[in-house]
Amino acid sequence: MMFKDQLAAIAPGFSYKNGRLEAGGVDLSEVVNAARGPVYVYSLDAVLENFLDFQRAFADQPTRICYAMKANDCLAILKLLGGAGSGVDVVSGGELALALSAGIPANRIVFSGVGKSDRELAQAVKAGVMQINVETQYELGQLAQIATSLGKEAPIALRVNPDLEAGTLDQISTGRATDKFGVAYEDAPRLYMEAEKTPGLAPKGIAMHIGSQIGNTDFLAAACAKLRSLWESLSASGLKLERFDVGGGLGIRYKNETAPLVQSYADTIKKAVSGLDAEVVLEPGRRIVGPAGVLLSTVISVKESGGRRFVILDAAMNDLIRPALYKAWHEIVPLIDPGSVPWTPADVVGPVCESTDKFADQRPLPPLQPGDQVAFLAAGAYGSVMGSEYNSRPRAAEAVVRDGQWSFTRNPRSYDDIIREQHAPAWL
Ligand code: LLP
Repeated sequence: MMFKDQLAAIAPGFSYKNGRLEAGGVDLSEVVNAARGPVYVYSLDAVLENFLDFQRAFADQPTRICYAMKANDCLAILKLLGGAGSGVDVVSGGELALALSAGIPANRIVFSGVGKSDRELAQAVKAGVMQINVETQYELGQLAQIATSLGKEAPIALRVNPDLEAGTLDQISTGRATDKFGVAYEDAPRLYMEAEKTPGLAPKGIAMHIGSQIGNTDFLAAACAKLRSLWESLSASGLKLERFDVGGGLGIRYKNETAPLVQSYADTIKKAVSGLDAEVVLEPGRRIVGPAGVLLSTVISVKESGGRRFVILDAAMNDLIRPALYKAWHEIVPLIDPGSVPWTPADVVGPVCESTDKFADQRPLPPLQPGDQVAFLAAGAYGSVMGSEYNSRPRAAEAVVRDGQWSFTRNPRSYDDIIREQHAPAWL
């Protein structure tokens, strides 16, 4: 496949105009030049379009879309999605605080996560979130105690582990009995009955999340079927639930995967809950932001060594850790259209002092010189949020584009920013 066809398939919001890579009517080299270092760029139109795909596909089914902000917590994206009617799925007190500060109403927020501290649970109860997805028997007691001491009742769902495969990477599969997530399927009925009797707890829903980057909706259908039979048996024993939370996980195209259409995903879910008096809750993350973002980087140097061509970038594993962590594939394209030159293999690496700091192994690329700029595609999900300042490298900046305008949403950080955040004790 020609690299421009691949670009169109992976990152529909990005294309070459007059030989330069653009998004939202903005020449991306302008952004990377201003950042003077690695920068993530998100197309707001592309983010919105991906969200609207879900909204349209579920229009005939009561549904609450709770964008999983762990994928990308850019404030501008939260505001954009909140404005379009989205809720959010949060997994920490920090995400909850950020979501509220972005104006997401508390009654559209789901709080997920296998371990929540007392402080985080109190924060969620006080804020009045729509639902707390409880993952252990211990958490039921913890939450009941916190809610009653605040004079409130916490709306809960139990995240049930269906003990099924998701057909994705081992590291991002979450729905097998041996994974750390959720309460065991067999324990769920007893825990629901207990929760129903416990002051401070109000069981409202059932929840699951079997994994991420799921490429085949059959896995989701199987898990939904298991949860549905649990829902039905709870209902037969007199427990009336309102929400069926199917989690997130819908995959995208990074290389040559066929990502299921949102419409076929919706058909699968709607079929799985048909006839139930349930509001569906969705927690999509990657599918909304992944294709809508790129990481831009500049070539520092190039060398031939050990019979290989090395392209050394100013971005590193601290900026985009997915290749080092999961051997994940991100397409790399030049910001200037190389024309019809031959592409030859190169190892694309960052400057961090370890061999895992490698983005691509023997990847066909056009000739690249120091100063040339490249974009990593489909880097909008689990990119910036997983960034760090390893090697005292300032965390990458972030910017958004739309209608010919662009703005930083996370400023380029200076060395002073890094130095200022540490303190040596006066007694040293
Ligand atoms: N809901 C829950 C409870 C989750 O744990 C996750 C992701 C989502 C929703 C959103 O899943 P998505 O729609 O984005 O697949 N860092 C990894 C991905 C980890 C996903 C963790 N949970 C990566 O870079 O591939």
